[in-house]
Amino acid sequence: MREGTAPLIRREDYAPPAYWIRTVDLTFDLDPVKTMVINRMQVERNAALPPQPLRLHGEDITLTRVLVNNESVSFRHEDGMLVIDSLPDAPFTLEIRNTCCPEKNTQLSGLYTSGGGFFTQCEAEGFRRITYFLDRPDVMAVYTVTLRAAKKQYPVLLSNGNLVEQGEMMAGVYGPRHYAKWHDPFPKPSYLFALVAADLVTREQLIRTRSGKEHLLQVHVRRGDLEKTEHAMNSLIASVVWDEARFGLPLDLERFMIVAVGDFNMGAMENKGLNIFNTKYVLANPATATDVDYAGIESVVGHEYFHNWTGNRITCRDWFQLSLKEGLTVFRDQEFSMDMAGTPTARAVKRIEDVRTLRQVQFPEDAGSMAHPVRPDSYVEINNFYTATVYEKGSEVVRMMQTLVGRDGFARGITKYFERHDGQAVTCDDFAQAIADANPDSPLATLLPQFKRWYSQAGTPRVTARGRYDAPTRTYTLGIEQTALPSPRQPVKQAYVIPLAMGLVGRDGSALPLQLEGEAAPVGTERVLVLNEARSFFTFVNVDQEPVPSLLRGFSAPVVLNDHLADADLLTLLQHDSDAFNRWEAGQRLALNRLLAGVNGTGPAQLDDAFIEAMRSVLRHPGLDAAFKDLALTLPSEGYVAEQLTTVDPQRIHAVREGMLLQLAQALRADWEWAYEAHQVKGGYSPDPVSSGRRALANLSLAMLCRDAVARHDAVWPGRAYERFKDAGNMTDRLGSLVALVHAHSELAELALQRFHTLFKDEALVIDKWFALQVTAPEKDGRVFERAKILLKHPDFSLKNPNRARSLIAALCMNNPAAFHRADAAGYVFWAERILELDSINPQLAARLARVMDRWTQLAEPYRSAAAEALRRVAAKPDLSSDVAEIVNRALQQETTTP
Ligand code: TRP
Ligand code: ZN
Repeated sequence: MREGTAPLIRREDYAPPAYWIRTVDLTFDLDPVKTMVINRMQVERNAALPPQPLRLHGEDITLTRVLVNNESVSFRHEDGMLVIDSLPDAPFTLEIRNTCCPEKNTQLSGLYTSGGGFFTQCEAEGFRRITYFLDRPDVMAVYTVTLRAAKKQYPVLLSNGNLVEQGEMMAGVYGPRHYAKWHDPFPKPSYLFALVAADLVTREQLIRTRSGKEHLLQVHVRRGDLEKTEHAMNSLIASVVWDEARFGLPLDLERFMIVAVGDFNMGAMENKGLNIFNTKYVLANPATATDVDYAGIESVVGHEYFHNWTGNRITCRDWFQLSLKEGLTVFRDQEFSMDMAGTPTARAVKRIEDVRTLRQVQFPEDAGSMAHPVRPDSYVEINNFYTATVYEKGSEVVRMMQTLVGRDGFARGITKYFERHDGQAVTCDDFAQAIADANPDSPLATLLPQFKRWYSQAGTPRVTARGRYDAPTRTYTLGIEQTALPSPRQPVKQAYVIPLAMGLVGRDGSALPLQLEGEAAPVGTERVLVLNEARSFFTFVNVDQEPVPSLLRGFSAPVVLNDHLADADLLTLLQHDSDAFNRWEAGQRLALNRLLAGVNGTGPAQLDDAFIEAMRSVLRHPGLDAAFKDLALTLPSEGYVAEQLTTVDPQRIHAVREGMLLQLAQALRADWEWAYEAHQVKGGYSPDPVSSGRRALANLSLAMLCRDAVARHDAVWPGRAYERFKDAGNMTDRLGSLVALVHAHSELAELALQRFHTLFKDEALVIDKWFALQVTAPEKDGRVFERAKILLKHPDFSLKNPNRARSLIAALCMNNPAAFHRADAAGYVFWAERILELDSINPQLAARLARVMDRWTQLAEPYRSAAAEALRRVAAKPDLSSDVAEIVNRALQQETTTP
């Protein structure tokens, strides 16, 4: 393990490797306690550089021998690397033999055991925990891999590429052994290497792609889970079809495999031809998975599959370029899910969900101690930079490119990118250049250097707009300013290129024709204004009435917009905007204004009739989709409210928001009753957008009805919720009913929780939900936090399994601010203790959970001082991992840089 003194790595220090590794021939004798690895490489000197020693990465492995051209050579260890000084000038073979201990690998990076099988995770720097190597993405090699293992325990032996040979071996101490040999014809960086050896069962499907070639698709899971693989397989088939149809990118392998594993640090991993997934993103049947799980599987299966081109065929030159593959691939999976959703409203719903995540996770990141550009300039631990900024903001940057060059232009750009760079390890600059070069007349091409500030500047830009209507001249002028606040290490920033999709809405709701000054005639009712200066003006002519501006439609840029719209304007947009995203946004803004006024004491902590009536008309609207209504009737989260404030009192936000929720529950009681009854889904389960939207709205309605009933000491709706919980035909309805009871603190909650546990005690992913839903209940007199402490001792709880650890710790500390931020600091003590425990087991996961404290300087007293103390306690651990050290040190550094 790397400890807290690890050095800072800088982007500007990039240098090409001194050697190339052309081929790798790996042989594994798999054993949980001592696995033997033979690694034979074809190596050659990088002729572009002066001769120098070969320095190989290696971590937590035991070296047994080193041969160059089959003869032993002298070597030394320096700075944790294996150094070989005198090497031939001509290409040579290097053979390394070493051992490792998969069973003791609780970090889940490198080769580890899970559920009695062997699995690997090599991104970003896990390959060095398997063997000595140039473990960097710009060294690409062709791999041949032989796996040997006990046949009974590990009947399935998998690695990247194609199976070339398999057979029996002489029996070992643990009975008969067998082997399998795999060959991957595509040169790849070490982070894409994978192996699996386990007792698995397989769902298979042959598909024929456009070229007429046949491909074998496989989903491998543990015995007993086969009936939960249908949705993952369907999602994989849909992904293959989509990438070929939308971008002309076909499947390039004879065989494409997905493997599910119960212990996994992240969502999934795109290893060439052998994607390894967290079970959460593979396993689903109607009885155990919710609509949200089904959607998550579709998008993650898509994401990993799409990496085959954007990530694997073209990879990153260095880890600073991570967004090259991640931002682009998130963009692709978002587009895939939107195309799969079908109808315009279903597409908008997906966009709203994505923007909600961006704002709730990435915006705070960009304003806190871990703020960094989409292409970071430095890091201590690269694992800490698999962030919402690199992924989600990176995707927004790609989306803006598409907006600036058009959908077809973007597809042409992608084609150019592959013409130029297929098989290479490249940079974010190379990507942007290809898209621009394919669209030479676009604003992207003319403004490219400026546009690329999105890659280099951290922080969320603010855009302020003011409109002025001049009735005599029938002109409407929009004045728009952009500002970028300073962030750590970036005190001064320059103007961005911001595509601002917009329209003008009449008071009667009509979409007004748009004609800019100097244009001969109106062009449509929606367009993209390109902002590239600190201040821009746009004058529209022939405007018959004072319009309401509808700006940043579809969230066309990752900015905070202040358009100075009054309630009356927002109500117009909520009712009439042709852009569904902005319609939702108008409702959220109305709600946010009220929440903020209540919290700040500048207005009543109560909802007014106008707002309640607006919500009622959305709920009752005959023309809106249920999924949209569900989103529109959900108040902005406590975390999002906190983001708008300079000083945060989490308890105050909670009290105000809870009060408004109860009011909404009471005032709309009859409407919630109607909505609940009217949105029941009859018949067999299907996770399609229409059915899942109806279920979501029915569940929201039920939660509101239970909340209202518990406040009135009325047992009717909780009783109904309990019946629905018992008899539900699918997990979405069952969990929705259980959440309604538990989150309303109904007396029936205990009984329901016990019953749920008994029913699903053998379903790990469902037990995760059971933990999470209890600790995310709205805090009331400290009882939720008390429960979290008790659950920590539950026999089913374990810090060793990442999903389980997250289901309790992340759920409490990240998703339940009022339970976590306590005036008595007990939440912070709880956090510090868990981080310290987890640091020794799984530093990557510990570092992720440590990020809860990113925004601590924003807290009001007494929270602020208590948070600082907890951070210092963690920072003081003697052998703290470099992962956690980087997070807490950056958090503590803020103390001196913020007022
Ligand atoms: N490349 C993976 C993805 O986004 C992310 C990933 C999976 C990962 N496992 C990891 C990153 C472990 C760092 C460490 O699809
Ligand atoms: Zn990815």
